[in-house]
Amino acid sequence: MFETATPITPSIGIEVSGVSGEQLANPDAAQWCRSALDRHGVVLFRECHIDDGDLVTLSRLLGDVVVPPMGGDKVHPEVSAISLDPAETVLASYNTGTFHWHIDGATDAIPQLGTLLTALEVSTEGGDTEFANTYAAYDALPDEEKAELVGLQVVHSFATAQSLAHPNATDKQKAAWAKVPTRVHPLVWTRRTGRKSLLIGATAGEIVGMEPQEGRALIARLLEWSTQPRFALRHHWHRGDLVLWDNTGMLHRAIPYTATSRRLMHRTTLTGEEAVA
Ligand code: OGA
Ligand code: MN
Repeated sequence: MFETATPITPSIGIEVSGVSGEQLANPDAAQWCRSALDRHGVVLFRECHIDDGDLVTLSRLLGDVVVPPMGGDKVHPEVSAISLDPAETVLASYNTGTFHWHIDGATDAIPQLGTLLTALEVSTEGGDTEFANTYAAYDALPDEEKAELVGLQVVHSFATAQSLAHPNATDKQKAAWAKVPTRVHPLVWTRRTGRKSLLIGATAGEIVGMEPQEGRALIARLLEWSTQPRFALRHHWHRGDLVLWDNTGMLHRAIPYTATSRRLMHRTTLTGEEAVA
């Protein structure tokens, strides 16, 4: 469908240039995106300058769209701003959490299927986004190591993720984080299709039944493994770029940028379709 589509690396990403936002807001484009997401994990449309209306249209064609309870846009409630500037979003103070490898919605029973992020303003320093493919990372593990992971369960919490971003948090902050329920997920997520990925990232605290330190060390080792350059890509944003990712298998993080940065993203989120199993 898109003649300029080119894989970015053998294990992650496909990019398309010369397409406008209007061209993406139709069923054929959405179908192409769904299969490209399955095959490549990350889909980049360079400088397509999609507007909020077309972003919502494309998102709805891809799946059910999350309406965030807080921080949604007035005109398009599905669209939220990602920025460190409190004038742009009430959630600004949480967004330094994106500086650590994570998947979105990892504390939900059904993590979000995908995320669409488009750059309205870019940072002059920092602010790239990195992605790492945990299907490819799992597949490449030696068989003995795969066998060791069978049956392991991980405790995920918002508090674990936020404490990385705010190591000197106040008791009040900690109490707010603790309100988000924790969730236990298998370390290896097996899909209906048989595909497997590693479910790790900033929310992953301990492994059930292991010494806390030992569990954390295993998670840290798997995170380092998964985010090696061979499974990862780093996107340097230009204004108007649109990136979609399969959030269930792509760890991601923003390279730190400052609170005074102009960087401003608009984002939509697709509801998960498959419970972790
Ligand atoms: C997010 C996220 C990364 C970025 O919005 O969930 O991780 O680069 N964003 O802003
Ligand atoms: Mn995220």
